[in-house]
Amino acid sequence: MNSGKSLLTVFSRGFIWPSSSWCRLPSGPSSFRALASISSSTEAGAQRDEQQLTPEERNQRAHEQLRVQYEAAQEAGGKQSHAEGSVEEKDADDEKKKKKKDKAQQQASVSVASIPRRAVMYVPGDDEKKLAKIAHLRVDCPVLECEDGVAFLRKETARNLIVQTLNRAPWVRQRLSQGRDVAVRVNALASGLAEADLAAVLSAEQLPSTLLIPKVEDKDDVEHIAHLLQQQLAARATPLVSPLRLIMYTESARALLSLQKTLKTALKLADKSEGLFRVDGMVLGSDDLCADMGARRSKEADELVFARQHFLAVVKSFQRQLQAIDLVYIDYKDAAGLQRQAEEGARWGFTGKQVIHPGQIDAVQAAFAPSQDQVQWAQQLTAAFQQHQQQGKGAFVFRDSMIDMPLLLQARNILQQHEVFSKQQEQAATSAQQSASNTTKSPSKPG
Ligand code: COA
Ligand code: MG
Repeated sequence: MNSGKSLLTVFSRGFIWPSSSWCRLPSGPSSFRALASISSSTEAGAQRDEQQLTPEERNQRAHEQLRVQYEAAQEAGGKQSHAEGSVEEKDADDEKKKKKKDKAQQQASVSVASIPRRAVMYVPGDDEKKLAKIAHLRVDCPVLECEDGVAFLRKETARNLIVQTLNRAPWVRQRLSQGRDVAVRVNALASGLAEADLAAVLSAEQLPSTLLIPKVEDKDDVEHIAHLLQQQLAARATPLVSPLRLIMYTESARALLSLQKTLKTALKLADKSEGLFRVDGMVLGSDDLCADMGARRSKEADELVFARQHFLAVVKSFQRQLQAIDLVYIDYKDAAGLQRQAEEGARWGFTGKQVIHPGQIDAVQAAFAPSQDQVQWAQQLTAAFQQHQQQGKGAFVFRDSMIDMPLLLQARNILQQHEVFSKQQEQAATSAQQSASNTTKSPSKPG
């Protein structure tokens, strides 16, 4: 089905567009699920697999709890009107609330650690000097690159150097021990190089935390990848400490239109892998997509508006709050352009952005973390909301805008993101200090 057409059908039939609810959950709102179910003829909306709800579901759990609190507050404020309802209605309400509470508790109990990835930075795997630089960079997700950042003649060098880096570089172990990311991007399946890349990387003594797989076209590709992962990971002598995190790329028109099925298959296979791997998110491979569609890449990226929006809606339609990583800004010396595009991506609901140069890290990581102003807005709004609830007011005016429940949920998102990134920043600062003191103690040691 043509999903753009479906969307137009929806509008022409006069649906109401709840814009503030739409924005309320930057990672995984029910409204995204609703859109994806409209735009796909496959299955109805999101895949709900309670067993594997990711920890980022914390966000959603908080929302569930909030909703329960909100309903309780409404009930307290509206006892009079409730008194008019029958006892049976009240019992049914109580039962519903109890179910919601139980579900929120169940989600909390299956939480596992998540890794924020605001900047996803490629480091050509055949470049020893650039690889050593990672030790000193405060980047959320360094990617040891085998694919397009490496020339054909250097593929084997890259593969070997990456395995050596994983096994020997002190910063790799340090990052992993702090729950920070170390990713490897292998070559695409169609290149004929992926199997050798995977065999090398997955037999390394020290595995990366995340594996990036480019150019995943459809569910058949996912099945092939899952098969290779099963084979390689099951053959390891020592059991995995935690599941390998998988992030795949959407880089063609066909891949974009089959994304829902691709992701559904990936999540299902991850569930069945018994902890060997899990799916953390998707990346929009924008330059390959432009090449595939015959589009010309511009700084404004308006040729990619539909692709970015559609990609986001599908990724966020899944219950388990997958990460959605936005395009690369290739003009790496244009700081203003990068900032504008990073802020736009964050505003739209992307969780991070690909970067190619260390000079892009700070701007991107700042854009994808809430600013001080946003945090202050969220704190004040939350306090005002609670006050108004106690007075029995669901909607009220705050800083000249109408505020109701969806805005409170947006504020909650900001506060939760703030908490996650503040913690991440503290860890990165500690790591940078340790790395600096190690360098002072043994200057001849490779990074
Ligand atoms: N990772 C780690 N270090 C990097 C880096 C990267 N991606 N890009 C640049 N650096 C380092 C350089 O080695 C240099 O270090 P030095 O000051 O110690 O000499 C410093 O940062 C400044 O680099 P600069 O001279 O401005 O850039 P460059 O000419 O060395 O490299 C690129 C420019 C674009 C070739 C390089 O940034 C790059 O290779 N990026 C990744 C490309 C890639 O993997 N693409 C595929 C995915 S889209
Ligand atoms: Mg690509």
